[in-house]
Amino acid sequence: MKRNSIQSISLATIISAMAMTTGIAWAGQDAAAPQFAWKDGAEIYAKVCALCHEATIGPMLRGRDLDPLYIRLMVRNGNRAMPAFRASEIDDASLQQLAEYISKATAEK
Ligand code: HEC
Repeated sequence: MKRNSIQSISLATIISAMAMTTGIAWAGQDAAAPQFAWKDGAEIYAKVCALCHEATIGPMLRGRDLDPLYIRLMVRNGNRAMPAFRASEIDDASLQQLAEYISKATAEK
């Protein structure tokens, strides 16, 4: 009887230890894979828009004082060769930052 309870205690200890370590492992995975977020408008411009708009594929956007609303509408809807970007690619808050960044960006780099 005594032996049995010792066995069950040690089994319970092992199980809870395992649960704790797997719990920690899960928490670690969550922390290691946070939801993706753009840093700022400049990052989006450099990593997405510049591929065309700094490569003579799309028209120059900097230094034209473009209306941020116009930029946002272009990005969401696209226009002919300009692709549309969904909120899952560029979220609304980031798009707002991007539009303001481009609107204020000067022609000189
Ligand atoms: C695959 C290439 C490509 C990418 C990437 C791209 N664009 Fe464009 N964009 C174009 C082209 C080409 C046009 C011109 C479309 C036309 O008039 O046929 C354009 C047009 C525009 C216009 C209208 C410019 C004007 O003179 O009226 C805006 C604003 C714009 N893009 C913003 C953006 C932003 C902001 C991004 C980044 C999120 C972006 N584009 C990414 C190709 C691209």
